[in-house]
Amino acid sequence: SGMTTVIDGNAVAEDVRADVAATVDALDAEGVTPGLATVLMSDDDASSTYVSMKQRDCEEVGIESFHVEIDPDEPASELYETIDDLNAREDVHGILVQLPLPDHVDEREVLRRVDPAKDVDGFHPENVGRLVAGDPRFVPCTPNGVMRLLDDADVPLDGLDATVVGRSNIVGKPLSNLLLQENATVTTCHSRTTDLEAHTRSADLVVAAAGIPEFIDASMLAEGAVVIDVGTNRVEDSSEKGYHLTGDVDFESAKEKASVISPSPGGVGPMTRAMLLVNTVEAAAALTD
Ligand code: GUN
Repeated sequence: SGMTTVIDGNAVAEDVRADVAATVDALDAEGVTPGLATVLMSDDDASSTYVSMKQRDCEEVGIESFHVEIDPDEPASELYETIDDLNAREDVHGILVQLPLPDHVDEREVLRRVDPAKDVDGFHPENVGRLVAGDPRFVPCTPNGVMRLLDDADVPLDGLDATVVGRSNIVGKPLSNLLLQENATVTTCHSRTTDLEAHTRSADLVVAAAGIPEFIDASMLAEGAVVIDVGTNRVEDSSEKGYHLTGDVDFESAKEKASVISPSPGGVGPMTRAMLLVNTVEAAAALTD
């Protein structure tokens, strides 16, 4: 088709980090150093990579980071007590427990246990409720990153027909709520949707957050659609690493039909990490106010 804008998530994330760094300086002038605690209870190397990247991001903008690692064979009580300790610490303003957790840990108990004022993931039921009610405190990082990319690309959401593919608590559900809050007409599709193509083809905006490699192609899109790829799938290959990352969208195909497209990698991923920093400085400011 004609002109397609390819969103540069790294560039927008860089702008967000610059804003965060300025806020960190302002807090520093008041004697406050924002602190983020990350908790990892997993042997999964994707999870440990994500956590390391989050710590590196913190360092870059002047947020102090604290890391707790718990052997996944330890009892759940170890994790609960860690959260209680972090809740009580004055130098910790944000707490992030990396998901997924081992099967013997009650994930809902973990999410409830984090002080909602330090819940920079936005997963505590109080914060989920506030988001749905239109009075958000911490907006989950990935959906918040998607909204920021749409804003940066000047996509008007009022009256837009939006189809979100995926209904996870981390991405699909909160994103559908945020789009609704901005007056889009939102359809949320999932694994039991009977005619997915009908819903994607009729949409002005398609957000792919299903975790299925490259399953959305041009045939499923309207001419001129805005396409945001949230997928970060590890696909095995014969490279040295043994895998590469790919999105939920077949980029080469979809870009021929889209007016605006956010690729993966290079779109939402860097934004997710940047929004965590935003939430952490917000938590620090609110807790020290
Ligand atoms: N695992 C996958 N995505 C996320 C996320 O946004 N936050 C946390 N804590 N764990 C995750």
